[in-house]
Amino acid sequence: MCGIVGYIGFREAYPILIKGLHRLEYRGYDSAGVALINKEDRLSVYKAKGRVQDLEEYAKDKDITGTIGIAHTRWATHGEPSNSNAHPHYSQSESLALIHNGIIENYAVLKAQLIQNGYTFQSSTDTEVLVQLIEYIKKLNNCDLFSAVQIALNQVVGAYAIAVIEKGKPEQIIAARKSSPLVIGVGDGEFFIGSDASPIIEYTNKVIYLDDEEIAIIKRNEEPKIVTIANIEKTHEIKQLEMNLSQLERGGYPHFMLKEIYEQPETLKNCMSGRINIEGTNVTLSGIIDHKEKFINARRIIIIACGTSWHAGLIGEYLFEEFCRIPVEVEYASEFRYRNPVIHPDDIVIAISQSGETADSLAAIELARKAGAFVYGVCNVVGSSIPRNTDSGSYTHCGHEIGVASTKAFTAQVTVLTMMALTIAKEKGSIDNDKYIDTIKELQLIPSKIEKALAANEKIKELSKIFTYAQNFIYLGRGYNYPIALEGALKLKEISYIHAEGYPAAEMKHGPIALIDNEMPVVSIATNSAIYEKVVSNIQEIKARKGCVIAIINEGDETMKSMADRYIEIPATIECLDPLLTAIPLQLLAYHIAVNKNRDVDMPRNLAKSVTVE
Ligand code: F6R
Repeated sequence: MCGIVGYIGFREAYPILIKGLHRLEYRGYDSAGVALINKEDRLSVYKAKGRVQDLEEYAKDKDITGTIGIAHTRWATHGEPSNSNAHPHYSQSESLALIHNGIIENYAVLKAQLIQNGYTFQSSTDTEVLVQLIEYIKKLNNCDLFSAVQIALNQVVGAYAIAVIEKGKPEQIIAARKSSPLVIGVGDGEFFIGSDASPIIEYTNKVIYLDDEEIAIIKRNEEPKIVTIANIEKTHEIKQLEMNLSQLERGGYPHFMLKEIYEQPETLKNCMSGRINIEGTNVTLSGIIDHKEKFINARRIIIIACGTSWHAGLIGEYLFEEFCRIPVEVEYASEFRYRNPVIHPDDIVIAISQSGETADSLAAIELARKAGAFVYGVCNVVGSSIPRNTDSGSYTHCGHEIGVASTKAFTAQVTVLTMMALTIAKEKGSIDNDKYIDTIKELQLIPSKIEKALAANEKIKELSKIFTYAQNFIYLGRGYNYPIALEGALKLKEISYIHAEGYPAAEMKHGPIALIDNEMPVVSIATNSAIYEKVVSNIQEIKARKGCVIAIINEGDETMKSMADRYIEIPATIECLDPLLTAIPLQLLAYHIAVNKNRDVDMPRNLAKSVTVE
């Protein structure tokens, strides 16, 4: 989704802003722009539909000097992608320029009032309404920019992360946030702004995270002053970023997605590190231990998430019910938040999110907390909004994920959920010791088994060529691998734009089997499990209808090899950990098909990495 970058200091701002915009490209966008104040205090705005390169091309013969500036990548919400809808937006007199992430919900009412007061609009965005409102308030009250922003934000309903600069005032950037993240990077007398840390990390690892309804006045050589929209002064600890620059580079891989798929042995080791002892006899998540009574006495667990994180949640359901014997419901955050759900104070709500900023998940958390439930976050981005709005939680520690299609974050989420289930089960006494230790020991072997699964890459690449022009795909799985069928289908849809559906294999007979003919590739997850024989029968049903079966099987499974049209072999593991291995070939299959189709793998059309609007 939209990205924000800003700079105030002693260096030329433009190169920093452009580099920052490139770093933010992974979030998904359709236009970009920059605003600068030069030595003569002139405020210039340059913007272009398309990529950051288009903006660079447009600005190359313009005045791009100045040591203060703001820049933006826009993902269209109000108004189509176009030059005029791109940010920054000028105010009517062109004395202010503003960038904005989020949505101003009452923009139509505010716009009508401004039109009555003589304001005209160049774009169809809600953002332009905000900058015009700030200018109107500033003139009406004859006040400074900070006060005008403060008054304006009190009139606004919705979500925002904003940065504003003013002609003739090269000494300050005003920034504010509500329900949309904003980070201030603290350098040596200079400051950076980012919607996440990626445009900042190159210059400093010291950051301040703004909280909701806070406004920062950022000046060179001064500590940022932070005041809420209700005019309460705040002080913020400077935090250390965990991210490093190499996470933002492709490191020799053609795409971030492939790099991130290959990182999984390492990311899962990091995820387990410090949580499982070396002997493999104990797993402890402090976020659970610190509140163990809550988990032991939980009436129910409700898991809320979106997209791939929701698929991880489905695996969580199997894990918690098997190990902890606590009933689990898994809900799309977007449905949960609007359907007046029954929530008890002794329910535990687990919110799963890579970004920690997904708008629907944040709203669902707010609802659960109001109802008195204990809310636990499973997130990747350290310091993001979900970890800051939950009672406790565990980070997935898989590093910055740039590819829009989530891969390493998914397997890390499943790993954290496994460790959570084991920790709770041990405390509750709902797991016998042998099973507890066997599961931990096998979990420790997963990174090396993923390495073996990755060795099938060349075979999968060859196989992908046969299916590049298929119009539809069906993915089948059962038990712990049913969510993997959904996830495999989602990966293919997102990056190749091929229609794909995931089903629990036994559901085929209840309708979808009508789709099967010799044109339909069926990816069947057919690894060893308690219901292996049933999966064999499901595959036979497909074969009997001339479907083309691509089976994910355990190494050396001759029965499956003889039955399937194509097969991909992966190492065997215990059933509850199988998703950590079966996910790998499906990620690779989607990746290679998308590459064959020449798709923009890391930034697929219409998608955003962090969905900060509902
Ligand atoms: C799919 C994907 C999305 C996200 C979803 C939730 O590859 O990445 O479906 O999983 O938008 O995002 P987070 O996990 O950041 O809450």
